[in-house]
Amino acid sequence: MSSNRFPHLFMPIQIGNFTVANRIAMVPTDISSANADGSVNQRVITYHEQVAKGGCGFIIVGATTPDRATGRPTVTCLAADADTLIPGLANLAEGMHRHGAKCAVQIQHPGRQAAWPRKGLMSASDSVVDLPGSAGHEVVYAEALAQGKAIRAMTIEEIYELIEKFAEAAWRVQQAGFDSVELHAAHGYLIAQFMSPYVNKRHDRFGGSFINRMRFPLEIISRIKTKCGRDFPVGIRYSGDEFIEGGRDIAESVKVAKLMEEHGAAYVDISAGIFEVPGPIMDPMYYPQGWNTYSAEAVKKEVKIPVITSHSLRDPAVCEKILAGGKADMVGFSRQMIADPYWADKAKAGKPEEIRKCISCLVGCWQESLMIKRDMRCAINPAVGDERFIHLVPAKQPCKVAVVGGGPAGMETARIATLRGHKVTIFEKSGELGGAILYCCTVSCKNKMRWYADWIRDQVKKLGVEVKYNTEAKVAELKKYDVVILATGGTVTRPDIPGIELPLVVSFEDVLRCENKNCRFYPKAKPKPVRCGNTVLIWGDHFGAADTAEKLGVDGKKVYIVTENAQFASWMEPCHYDVMLKRFAGSNGEGLKGKKFKHPITIIPNSTVVEIKKNGQMTLMDSEFNKSELKVDNVVLGKVEPDNTFYEKLLAAGLTVEKIGDLKQVRNLRGAVTDGANIGLELDEKPMLNANNAVICNLPTGVDI
Ligand SMILES: Cc1cc2nc3c(=O)[nH]c(=O)nc-3n(C[C@H](O)[C@H](O)[C@H](O)COP(=O)(O)O)c2cc1C
Repeated sequence: MSSNRFPHLFMPIQIGNFTVANRIAMVPTDISSANADGSVNQRVITYHEQVAKGGCGFIIVGATTPDRATGRPTVTCLAADADTLIPGLANLAEGMHRHGAKCAVQIQHPGRQAAWPRKGLMSASDSVVDLPGSAGHEVVYAEALAQGKAIRAMTIEEIYELIEKFAEAAWRVQQAGFDSVELHAAHGYLIAQFMSPYVNKRHDRFGGSFINRMRFPLEIISRIKTKCGRDFPVGIRYSGDEFIEGGRDIAESVKVAKLMEEHGAAYVDISAGIFEVPGPIMDPMYYPQGWNTYSAEAVKKEVKIPVITSHSLRDPAVCEKILAGGKADMVGFSRQMIADPYWADKAKAGKPEEIRKCISCLVGCWQESLMIKRDMRCAINPAVGDERFIHLVPAKQPCKVAVVGGGPAGMETARIATLRGHKVTIFEKSGELGGAILYCCTVSCKNKMRWYADWIRDQVKKLGVEVKYNTEAKVAELKKYDVVILATGGTVTRPDIPGIELPLVVSFEDVLRCENKNCRFYPKAKPKPVRCGNTVLIWGDHFGAADTAEKLGVDGKKVYIVTENAQFASWMEPCHYDVMLKRFAGSNGEGLKGKKFKHPITIIPNSTVVEIKKNGQMTLMDSEFNKSELKVDNVVLGKVEPDNTFYEKLLAAGLTVEKIGDLKQVRNLRGAVTDGANIGLELDEKPMLNANNAVICNLPTGVDI
């Protein structure tokens, strides 16, 4: 394979006593998929083996607890606190070594951020916290929500006991055949709690001065060296900037790197943030590629050991530039390896366009998994957590499949079904594929969604899926297919109130219509987007409402949002939510330099619109029936629901039909892609329903039921 396009990415590097074949690291990712006792299972091996197979040089396995009894960052994290766990860890190391990767395990104690246990949590200092973005955020006891989570300071005895447990865990990792261990001293977990001047308020030898705050990690390194030998490489991951008043800044982080190097650290892995402000830790879509590299660059100037940079790195060209510019020694990826474990090999082959770039949505890998005590998934890669998609089985008997609607659900159905040998035709009523994701292209904070739109559109093209553009599917035409998959998406709701038909009332789809004529998928004829006046009311709670607010806010409009709910968009992934609210208030997320809004956005909760007049005067009513008036230039409808009219028509005509995506239930991209992938996989296996909703066993496709 050629690596000419990205020569720096594919240069070997020495870390301590081992050589990594390239500069590509998977930074630690707790996939929370281990067995309940913290032991390795086939899912954990498969996940990491895929990344190794995909050419990643150095894989750092995610947070692994040295003491299950006092702290697990997620309920099914890995553990290294018993010798009985060594055989499983050895299988994991072997799985990665088999493909040429070097590997480490990150040892982490969550302290105050434990998902388990829920009570009696330890930290550097006594405190009360509520950290809504973390996986251990929930406060489940009576009155506890108001009080926050009570945390207690560790005693000196407990500190020394835990130092020993860290060293023992490192020894087990070494015994299992790993090349290195990494200490998790980032993101406000236990080691970070000792290191952070914001959290650590101790007055003993583990608190106060800089060196006292560093004593906990330094003692751990020293004990690991004693137990495992001076040659066993120990890396450390910490946040370059905690982005919180009173927390560690980049100047102190440079001092930390020098100190760790002096004490024998083999490399530093520079992350960002503390869970009080979750944005920089797991940077949502708002953050541009490589925004955190400045911190690695500052550290690299002062140390000789390798420095890893990470956060929102996606393009090989961007990474090549970072390395060529001497800003870091290695580039690190967490979510990118979830979205596409073959990143390295695709870059090496000179085919970066084949990479399914992570869109940083945090829905599959965080909100709908680790945060709610599930194992990990991915919004755009159905193979994560579901091996059926890694080893796709050819269809027993290929079907003729009509997919109505070329959004993410429809396209993913087409992709999986075609890969399995079915013959798929997509009916798309507009001139381009993309559906609801296309609206994101116009919103600066969401334009990473465009990466996925382009990737999946390319796949559909490369697979030779037939697409009938500008075509409304008709019953007679659909009867020619074995099965119809309806993926027509949600429909914007138009509540029946006076004034709803006025021209000043538009939908978010009208406002967010993309007009990027440089897009290679841009259709010949496309209606222009609606330009709103200076004052706009957005009515609804859907993504479309949030995205319209962001777009109009950036455009300098004065925006009001009316929602029937007590909180606007409470369903949103918490890291995005945190940044969104800061932007609505007229500032930015921490470390983010996006264009700020000219006017803060006003959210009017628990309210609805009861009348709209021609001059833009409107009447609102709250949940206690109080009325108020507002004058705007436009009203944007931002609510969506399924419209089953066509589905029922097809059922009545006796067609075999399944609905997926937002037509089945309005959700998010993950919901749509997962539905599409599943139906693509189950087409020739699944019992299908006939017009009377009875299971039919005599599909013309030879289905065994
Ligand atoms: C699901 C998930 C699990 C993570 N687990 C860990 C972990 O165990 N240790 C750690 O240091 N960081 C962890 N992180 C943070 C990532 O390593 C990384 O710093 C962050 O996601 C930003 O980089 P990315 O854009 O490459 O994903 C995790 C992030 C996610 C999304």
